[in-house]
Amino acid sequence: MHNPHDPVSNASPNPIFAEILKVDMQRRRVLQGGLAAAAATFLPWTLPSRQGHAARPPMITFAPVPVSTNDAVHVPEGYVARVLYAWGDPVSDGPAFRPDAANSAAEQALQAGMHHDGMHYFPLPDEAGTHNRGLLVINHEYVDDGLLHRDGMRTWSAEKVRKSQAAHGVSVIEVRQGADDQWQVVRPSHYGRRITANTPMRISGPAAGHAWLRTRDDPQGNRVLGTLNNCANGFTPWGTYLACEENFPYYFAHRGETSAAQRRYGLGTKGFGYRWEEFDERFDAQRHPNEPNRFGWVVEIDPFDPDHVPVKRTALGRFSHEGAAHTLARDGRVVIYSGDDQRNEYIYKFVSRDRYDPAHPSAARDLLDHGTLYVARFTAGGAGEWLELSHGRNGLTTENGFASQAEVLIHARLAADRAGATMMDRPEWIAINPVGGEAYCALSNNSRRGALPPSVNARDGSTRLASAHPPIDAANPRADNVFGHILRWREAQGDAASTDFQWDIFIHCGDPSHPDPVKRGDIRGDTFGSPDGLWIDRDGRLWIQTDASPAVLNKGNYASLGNNQMLCADTATGEVRRFLTGPRGCEITGAVGTPDGRTLFVNIQHPGETAGARSNPDHPSVNSAWPDGGRPRSATLAIRRVDGGSIGT
Ligand code: FEO
Ligand code: CA
Ligand code: CA
Ligand code: CA
Repeated sequence: MHNPHDPVSNASPNPIFAEILKVDMQRRRVLQGGLAAAAATFLPWTLPSRQGHAARPPMITFAPVPVSTNDAVHVPEGYVARVLYAWGDPVSDGPAFRPDAANSAAEQALQAGMHHDGMHYFPLPDEAGTHNRGLLVINHEYVDDGLLHRDGMRTWSAEKVRKSQAAHGVSVIEVRQGADDQWQVVRPSHYGRRITANTPMRISGPAAGHAWLRTRDDPQGNRVLGTLNNCANGFTPWGTYLACEENFPYYFAHRGETSAAQRRYGLGTKGFGYRWEEFDERFDAQRHPNEPNRFGWVVEIDPFDPDHVPVKRTALGRFSHEGAAHTLARDGRVVIYSGDDQRNEYIYKFVSRDRYDPAHPSAARDLLDHGTLYVARFTAGGAGEWLELSHGRNGLTTENGFASQAEVLIHARLAADRAGATMMDRPEWIAINPVGGEAYCALSNNSRRGALPPSVNARDGSTRLASAHPPIDAANPRADNVFGHILRWREAQGDAASTDFQWDIFIHCGDPSHPDPVKRGDIRGDTFGSPDGLWIDRDGRLWIQTDASPAVLNKGNYASLGNNQMLCADTATGEVRRFLTGPRGCEITGAVGTPDGRTLFVNIQHPGETAGARSNPDHPSVNSAWPDGGRPRSATLAIRRVDGGSIGT
């Protein structure tokens, strides 16, 4: 999400000094010769999927749409996008949306939350056998209090705090295709459910019960209320949904002295100004310093059981989890990748201890409670390694401040610093190609990369960073990376449990007409910047969604890139085509197809958002009136081809 307060918590330069001189040389090459020369300094790395496809039919056949600054959704000719589920729509047979935002907190808890983000579709068996029926599970990342309440934040009350909390979390809705092939929400539904910032949850895994997780209301440290800032997502082969907690620190007020560990997680910065602490004291981190430790986790939800108590899985570590993308290791262990989306944070991987047995999916109930967490180190030349974050390894000892595995996990960022992970340009979504097996990560942008070169001591050759901005490196090769890039890796021996991998940069995003050659990028096809959402369909098409913040959209570097958009890349050829453009001020996020490949669900998030400001409740539609002419509403789209064919082809 866009954080108006622009935090960066990893101010401590991670000292991989051996790399710095190499990096400085690469930086000079980039500046001198542009990206072509920079790319030449990296070993070319060819994926098997690039080979032997001379005769294969084109993966992408739709005619691309042009950039747009319209307050509308545009899709290619022959496609139709319809709004399925917008903020305020009832999940089941609950109250209807009131366009003047007059729904109460209790009503909001039975309706779609705000700011739809990651989502997944779980098929249900269809009794008729001819149409699709399933559960759509959707994250609601954050809220705009200027739109959420009739008079915005002009007055403030416990009721407004509860409504704001109720507009966060997750929706589970039942959806089906009618006889006309159009998708509808099934109401009433046995499955319809909202999970909010107040839903009771369990905490499990190695950190459950640790002293740092205990609070006045939960002296055992294993029960917590709610999930927050659920951005990208994941799902498991055993049919559960993974909601991830991203920018959690900024919900907590802390106006006093903070510890280094608290600052490493962003506590004590100005925050989002949600003012929850005024009526819900657990969000006052001075009074309840352990409450923020109970957020920043991956939350597992069983969408098929409306009474399921969601579980925070601490074995996957605590950080700003953007998502949780799974694959299986050769031996059947579950592997989950997760980016920590903040400037100069890391990419993590979890490998379960036990194997997943498809014949006994119910045995996987607690599979995510035991395993090994790793963090990525990318080295020049296209090699990489996963550094183990286990107590006793890589300096994660009691003397260094990690008394147990629980402490390693609760302070995963500090553990990754210690292990020597590579600072990345804001790792957003990760997607794994079901065809080729390689993983892709969107590195959205980074305004704090390489602004000042490190200084070299002429006498002894030692280097010192001149600022808190890390220098460029092979995996993050552009200073002031305003457009971002998409990086990919392939695990050694094609085994996701490997501790070594090879990587390259799939696309440097940019504008080919930009006066600065480094900012032109190397996209083969339609232009875009700030990649965020990624999804790879069953045929291996990489769908890319952008989240350029309202502060940069349609001006400066982004003057000719239009509103946020969704594109489709052929992973074999690198060709990119623009598939969808969104309304004003929105970002495009969340993508999932139905198993038949004929419907694509996509979320339009925060239409009408402006740079760093809440909407003005007196003029709620001034920036966007999408989708229905009134207050702008985040919404899920169902996209179909007019001829009912497969999406993308
Ligand atoms: Fe919520 Fe990293 O986007
Ligand atoms: Ca983003
Ligand atoms: Ca976002
Ligand atoms: Ca995101």
